[in-house]
Amino acid sequence: MKIVVIGGTGLIGSQLVAQLQPTGHEVVVASPNTGVNTLTGEGLAAVLQGATVVVDVSNSPSFEDTAVMNFFRTSNGNLLAAEKAEGVQHHVALSVVGTRQLQESGYFRAKQVQEDMVEASGIPYTIVHATQFFEFAGGIAQMSLVDGKLVLPAANIQPIASKDVAFFMAQATLAAPANKILEIGGPEPLDMSAWMGQYLQATGKSMEIVTDEQALYSGAKIGTNTLLPQAAVFLGTTNYAGWIAIPGNQR
Ligand SMILES: NC(=O)c1ccc[n+]([C@@H]2O[C@H](COP(=O)([O-])OP(=O)(O)OC[C@H]3O[C@@H](n4cnc5c(N)ncnc54)[C@H](OP(=O)(O)O)[C@@H]3O)[C@@H](O)[C@H]2O)c1
Repeated sequence: MKIVVIGGTGLIGSQLVAQLQPTGHEVVVASPNTGVNTLTGEGLAAVLQGATVVVDVSNSPSFEDTAVMNFFRTSNGNLLAAEKAEGVQHHVALSVVGTRQLQESGYFRAKQVQEDMVEASGIPYTIVHATQFFEFAGGIAQMSLVDGKLVLPAANIQPIASKDVAFFMAQATLAAPANKILEIGGPEPLDMSAWMGQYLQATGKSMEIVTDEQALYSGAKIGTNTLLPQAAVFLGTTNYAGWIAIPGNQR
């Protein structure tokens, strides 16, 4: 069958494509770099011709509130309409554990709109909710920086290696539509401050970590376990300490 990977050049997308290619299916990478733009619609109808499954692992180039909402609303709308016109039989989307609980955040409001549109589309679907990727530790550090200190909420987190996410996304792509959200996470829950401490140490960054009950995550108030999967169907096996010890991963 023909599988189109929207965002197939990205962190998850490129690893997902590598997982799917040996299966013998026709796997097509679709992103602005390959001439397919879901935001403008450029190249979309052509790339979807004859597609059975579409996997959407794209992300907004900007996380600014208005830009990210426009990205997920418009590009997802264009994509789902083109899939309907083509008779695509399975739409697989990647979103984030805790999205519904994080609606004070512009990013998570946009992800919720994406999920709601997928669920309402009438196209059989699977939404995968993943926890934070190992590779996103630097992003969390950046967004938590206040006056040179990392100010973090008193919350748990269960990060997962992107290669483990890609592995599960490949399984979900080849399986029948679940028509629901499937949660996945890393091997174990950690205190967010402890995880950030490991990241700072491994990357040689010396910064004070302050745990503050009132600190926001991505602009949203957060509970102790908001970022943990409640009913994970898959846990990645890659261990963070071993992974971050590899020099290429220390970014
Ligand atoms: N970061 C986390 O911890 C985390 C956790 C759970 C879930 N997620 C979700 O995982 C998904 C994938 O994230 P990622 O880190 O793999 O993303 P990424 O590396 O930033 O890649 C983004 C992809 O989107 C493509 N793209 C951008 N604009 C596009 C457009 N207009 N039309 C079509 N494709 C477009 C890019 O294509 P070009 O290369 O051509 O620009 C690229 O392939 C996101 O939806 C995110 O919400 C992330």
